Amino acid sequence: MLEHQNTKPEPITKDDASWFQSLFKVCFDREELWSQHLGDHKYEAFHISKQAFIFTYTVDDSTDLLTIGVHLAQRKKGLATYLLKWVIAKAPEGQKFFLDVECQNIAAIQLYKKIGFEFVSIRKGYYPQLSAPALDAFVMTYQKLLS
Ligand SMILES: CC(C)(COP(=O)(O)OP(=O)(O)OC[C@H]1O[C@@H](n2cnc3c(N)ncnc32)[C@H](O)[C@@H]1OP(=O)(O)O)[C@@H](O)C(=O)NCCC(=O)NCCS
Repeated sequence: MLEHQNTKPEPITKDDASWFQSLFKVCFDREELWSQHLGDHKYEAFHISKQAFIFTYTVDDSTDLLTIGVHLAQRKKGLATYLLKWVIAKAPEGQKFFLDVECQNIAAIQLYKKIGFEFVSIRKGYYPQLSAPALDAFVMTYQKLLS
């Protein structure tokens, strides 16, 4: 069992590109070249024990949650909740978070709702597919409260 509650997320750097791409493939069953953004100062990526990751893009008081994934063998143990809450906790008060999630991705939608994200709108045909109609996305947002 991964003791993630005691594990501080670590930055993913350019040197981690190889294992990160492998983890991404296990999580999403496809490849995307997120690692090309590693090292760019507006992008931040963190992992827990190379089993879960989160990728963000921040400009001023606005953070896009670009992608989050947990290894198939480590799901439903609270890892994504822990990572997402950790990213929010380290952000400044008032920070606004935005994300797109495929409308049928129940696990991810439930995760975001549990954290406190709210629905903003639907983007029709936002996610292209190779041989099927493009999938719709929900846009969701969350603002870290001022204390
Ligand atoms: C979505 C994902 C990141 C969740 O990771 P996880 O570590 O398993 O999530 P957690 O254990 O923190 O679960 C948090 C909440 O999400 C929801 N959830 C997680 N998996 C779920 C599932 N299979 N079905 C329904 N709800 C689910 C639950 O509400 C859960 O809270 P609960 O345990 O109190 O019921 C993971 O399933 C994943 O990597 N999926 C593939 C990649 C992906 O789709 N990423 C999101 C792109 S927008």
